[in-house]
Amino acid sequence: MSAFNLIMLGAPGAGKGTQADRVVHARGIPKISTGDILREAVAAGTEIGRLAKAVVDRGELVGDEVVIGIVQERLARHDARNGFVLDGFPRTVAQARALDQMMDGRDPLVVVDIEVPEDVLVRRLLTRMVCESCGATAGGMDGGAAAPECRKCGGRLVQRSDDNKSVVLERLSVYLRQTKPLVEYYRTRPTFRAVDGTQSPDRVAADLDAAIEATLRGLTAVKAVRS
Ligand code: AP5
Ligand code: MG
Repeated sequence: MSAFNLIMLGAPGAGKGTQADRVVHARGIPKISTGDILREAVAAGTEIGRLAKAVVDRGELVGDEVVIGIVQERLARHDARNGFVLDGFPRTVAQARALDQMMDGRDPLVVVDIEVPEDVLVRRLLTRMVCESCGATAGGMDGGAAAPECRKCGGRLVQRSDDNKSVVLERLSVYLRQTKPLVEYYRTRPTFRAVDGTQSPDRVAADLDAAIEATLRGLTAVKAVRS
């Protein structure tokens, strides 16, 4: 069986994490979120966490070498052999080039960009609540009814430390400068698709699924012609 390797591209608040959770649940493959891994490292007080905390809280990017190392180590684990969903990586052209090297000998990357305009992104991020204990998103103004506590573990709901106005604006500006160029990096590949992320989460998920299936059909057809 071929492996299904997906990159979820999109600005802060585009819904990468929301949609990545759905894809991994449906397909039984791991989600690799560099943001989640860095937040776990901060919470655990590891050396990477201590180095990353101030950078993440300023809305800047952690160094390429550090995140490339994290992803390299994670992709080498057995459960990623049958596929994975990358959420928040790559974020720079250097990271994308490093990922292309890591993919040598593996099935191609499917790349989906979730498109959402800036005013919607800001609104979503400033209203998002996450669980202090498990990090799950509780749903913000547009992401579902607000709950008094985490539906998964009953933990206290808080704002993410980088979800305040000045840091959100910095994250969006960093995205435009350093990450948006990746859309051009991948756009010419036959495995690139874009979806409208302003729809309801269910509609985005349906479009994402259709985009993934169309891409996989294309890849199967190419394989059949070559064999
Ligand atoms: P990361 O955790 O990746 O944050 P981000 O890219 O800023 O993205 P978010 O997690 O804020 O948004 P999302 O797209 O996942 O949206 P979500 O689904 O939650 O990175 C954090 C930091 O870590 C970075 O700033 C950087 O410092 C560092 N870092 C991480 N990766 C790195 C890398 N590769 N290199 C260097 N540094 C790195 O949705 C947002 C909200 O909207 C939620 O409330 C949700 O419920 C709601 N929502 C979702 N979909 C919809 C919808 N369709 N309609 C309405 N509401 C919706
Ligand atoms: Mg996220």
